[in-house]
Amino acid sequence: MKHTRIKELLNSAQTMQEVYVKGWVRTFRNNQFIALNDGSTINNIQCVVDFENTPAETLKRITTGAAVALKGALAESQGAGQKYEIQVTSLEILGDSDPEKFPMQPKKHSLEFLRENAHLRVRTNAFGAIMRVRSVLSFAVHNYFQEKGFVYVNTPVITGADAEGAGEMFQVTSLPLDNLPKNEEGNVDYKKDFFGKHTNLTVSGQLEGEAFAMALGQIYTFGPTFRAENSNTSRHLAEFWMIEPEVAFNDLHDNMDLAEDFIRYVIKYTVDKCGDDLKFLEGRLLEEEKSKPQAERSELALLEKLNFVLENNFKRVSYTEAIDILKNSTPNKKKKFNYIIEEWGADLQSEHERYLVEKHFKSPVIVYDYPANIKSFYMRMNEDGKTVGAMDILFPGIGEIVGGSQREERLDVLLEKMKVIGIDEEELWWYLDTRRFGSAVHSGFGLGFERLVLFVTGMTNIRDVIPFPRTPGNAEF
Ligand code: 4AD
Ligand code: MG
Repeated sequence: MKHTRIKELLNSAQTMQEVYVKGWVRTFRNNQFIALNDGSTINNIQCVVDFENTPAETLKRITTGAAVALKGALAESQGAGQKYEIQVTSLEILGDSDPEKFPMQPKKHSLEFLRENAHLRVRTNAFGAIMRVRSVLSFAVHNYFQEKGFVYVNTPVITGADAEGAGEMFQVTSLPLDNLPKNEEGNVDYKKDFFGKHTNLTVSGQLEGEAFAMALGQIYTFGPTFRAENSNTSRHLAEFWMIEPEVAFNDLHDNMDLAEDFIRYVIKYTVDKCGDDLKFLEGRLLEEEKSKPQAERSELALLEKLNFVLENNFKRVSYTEAIDILKNSTPNKKKKFNYIIEEWGADLQSEHERYLVEKHFKSPVIVYDYPANIKSFYMRMNEDGKTVGAMDILFPGIGEIVGGSQREERLDVLLEKMKVIGIDEEELWWYLDTRRFGSAVHSGFGLGFERLVLFVTGMTNIRDVIPFPRTPGNAEF
């Protein structure tokens, strides 16, 4: 007999004579009531054991964490808050758990403790919910782009180009590190390395994505990216997933429209599909915020915050306007910012981004037209000769969630820019070819998937929204 998933049983239109379920025991009360979970839903199903007719030996083995299979009738539940329960007729222990040693006790654990047990934390309500939401969000990403006729492109994880400049890179090599081959100049001879050249893990699929957009018109990538920055913050991972659409013939404003529409779609899709999980996470967040000072608590509950994004347009301001707002802001005048904004040209730090979003606009914000010299070489130079068609989307509680731009499609302007910055033309010969043959206006952006999951789940540390986080000093599991 094939077992049925608990979610299906809880949604059943009627009671049933016999059902078969498999799952893990969350709790076992009064030698009688099992709260069983199989990961299909946040909700446990209550299974009532006939303790008089069950061997004492078996009852002893029904402990938190154990895997069990059981059969019984799906009946209307007497208990409050649950529609059905299973009146157990037979029960088999599939895998014992040691109740003394099992780390996921039925009590509140700190997020730090759970991170150290990332292989088991997914058995808790919160992490089960987060991982289901993450899964639905990623499906929504594909749905959005596929419905719009974008082509999904798998760009390489190992890259020979280290010119993108999006961050520090992890080197990939098969050379023996304790006995490196040297060339005549005494440097490491990468000709002897696996690929015959120096290679890294990718920081972004954009450059390859651009080449494909110049043939397929509308493409997106969705894959892992790697950055070796030593930034130990609650917003940075060394390995994270990025979604990068790239669209031929789109200018910067089309790009902003696409990003906004896309973000709304995936949030709406997830709100519609993950009601139970999001309600649970909303409660978790309220509980967590009780321990914070009033001023730091968010004004909106999780679902209100998500609905706010669905119902309100993002505010769009140029970098120049943003700098004016920040220069005249109270924390800047009172020197409360760590980085005081003195003049046009300053890079925006996350404290500034959060001020704009959380205090000034109280809404997601798109900042565009940044100074050329704080942005990447491939961004399109504006008529003013000092700003580029860049756009960053800033979210409450997160800061930057999207970074994108209109790309420099003019070969001569791009070459000049690369020369000034010192990027080798040879190295990016293939990228430059896209400007040599049928170049056209095009734009794209990158959305950090974990930052989106942070926003939707109301979690506050990025380590808690990816199954096994990689951060400086940590690659356990
Ligand atoms: O702004 P970034 O560096 O942009 C790019 O990589 C461009 N090539 C994207 C493009 O135009 N196709 O990164 C894009 C987004 C950021 O806005 C942020 O959400 C996320 O990726 N991100 C990180 N997320 C987690 N950990 C990190 N270390 C991240 N670095 C960037
Ligand atoms: Mg960025």
